[in-house]
Amino acid sequence: MFKFDVCIIGGCGRVGLPLAIAFAGKGLQVAVYDLDKSRLQMVRSGVMPFAEKGCARLLKKVAGKNLTATDDPQDIGRARFVVVTIGTPVEEHLNPRFADMISFFDDIHRYLVEGQHIILRSTVYPGATENIRSYLKRKGAKVRLTFCPERIAEGRALEELAGLPQIVSGFDKKSVEEVSRLFRRLTGDIIVTEPVEAELAKLFTNNWRYIQFAVANQFYMLADRYNIDYYRIYHAMTYHYPRTQGLPRPGFAAGPCLFKDTMQLSAFSNNNYFLGHSAMLINEGLPNYIVDKLKMQCRGEGDDPGLKGRAVGILGMAFKAGSDDERDSLSFKLKKILEMSAGRVYCSDPYVKRDYFISAEKLVQLSDIIILATPHKVYRKLAIPEDKILVDIWNLYGKAGGEL
Ligand SMILES: NC(=O)c1ccc[n+]([C@@H]2O[C@H](COP(=O)([O-])OP(=O)(O)OC[C@H]3O[C@@H](n4cnc5c(N)ncnc54)[C@H](O)[C@@H]3O)[C@@H](O)[C@H]2O)c1
Repeated sequence: MFKFDVCIIGGCGRVGLPLAIAFAGKGLQVAVYDLDKSRLQMVRSGVMPFAEKGCARLLKKVAGKNLTATDDPQDIGRARFVVVTIGTPVEEHLNPRFADMISFFDDIHRYLVEGQHIILRSTVYPGATENIRSYLKRKGAKVRLTFCPERIAEGRALEELAGLPQIVSGFDKKSVEEVSRLFRRLTGDIIVTEPVEAELAKLFTNNWRYIQFAVANQFYMLADRYNIDYYRIYHAMTYHYPRTQGLPRPGFAAGPCLFKDTMQLSAFSNNNYFLGHSAMLINEGLPNYIVDKLKMQCRGEGDDPGLKGRAVGILGMAFKAGSDDERDSLSFKLKKILEMSAGRVYCSDPYVKRDYFISAEKLVQLSDIIILATPHKVYRKLAIPEDKILVDIWNLYGKAGGEL
């Protein structure tokens, strides 16, 4: 009855495309529907629009065969399952943009046909699935609706789609059974919850991670402020000590999910989410801390203009190591602060491309101060002369935490 088994909306995105490739790899007929025409063109020709381990090879195999890239909304009505993976950002007051999802369903509900199953996969505000159910009912759409959150980490999508348990939730047994059967194509591990429980499980997970990073960053700043080597303390705390194994290393905690999902939960708690807000202040404050410390360190005497007279290079502009995703990267925040405080600012990244970026080698040559913002592995081989100031919160160069 249906031409496609699955249609992924937002199918050229970081969540949608790996999922589409995974389903197509299992032999399902998959449509990838997106508004981004240049990404669609790439996917159609079997080329990944971004880096994701294992996807390039698999996409080449399935593109144009059982994976079809389309901008024809009629194709939405030709799929048994419709998976929604569009972005769910927060607005300028850091509140969720509820209207986006509703206006999305305003656009597509006319293409839905009886017997289809809509799966929400984007990270949504608690209660969103219930609201969409009421909306679809009002519009007379005779479709099933479930919420099955995506929990992959970028760069490990294929491995995690197969290895992580899948949370599924719905309003009736039949819908939950149907969607569980679909996801069993990818993983044998299914967890069933109520929709609002699944929405909160996803938000709590991201918030937990963000708070863990904040603890690490707060400890780092506490010690570093007194010029105490945090990595020696970190080693003492975590070496063969089971109860501190979850403590991450300090570093920029950024990207398109953790911050905005913490703000979604904050809006849900009527802005009384002290832990989440504290985590945000700590993580977002790390670039300011680095620049303040450099100002102190370079405080010039007499005619020395201090930091204003120094060139600073930022190594790594992606939001995390090994990634080409620059969305909400704190490297760009650091750049902005430095542009007001330092003489010149240079940027470099091996994966993110911008006209004004320079090579890492050139950056080292031109800069008096080098800040390792994103610990891409390739930087390990970079020679940094001893006469340069190096800020390496990640301890990629292993200069901190040494023997006495
Ligand atoms: N990136 C991650 O690692 C990750 C992990 C888990 C969950 N999530 C959640 O998944 C959702 C998507 O995130 P993402 O990183 O994949 O975003 P993304 O921006 O990479 O992908 C979204 C895609 O949707 C497309 N799109 C937007 N509006 C559309 C519309 N009306 N019709 C068709 N296509 C449309 C965009 O062109 C884009 O290709 C968010 O809710 C995010 O919080 C992301």
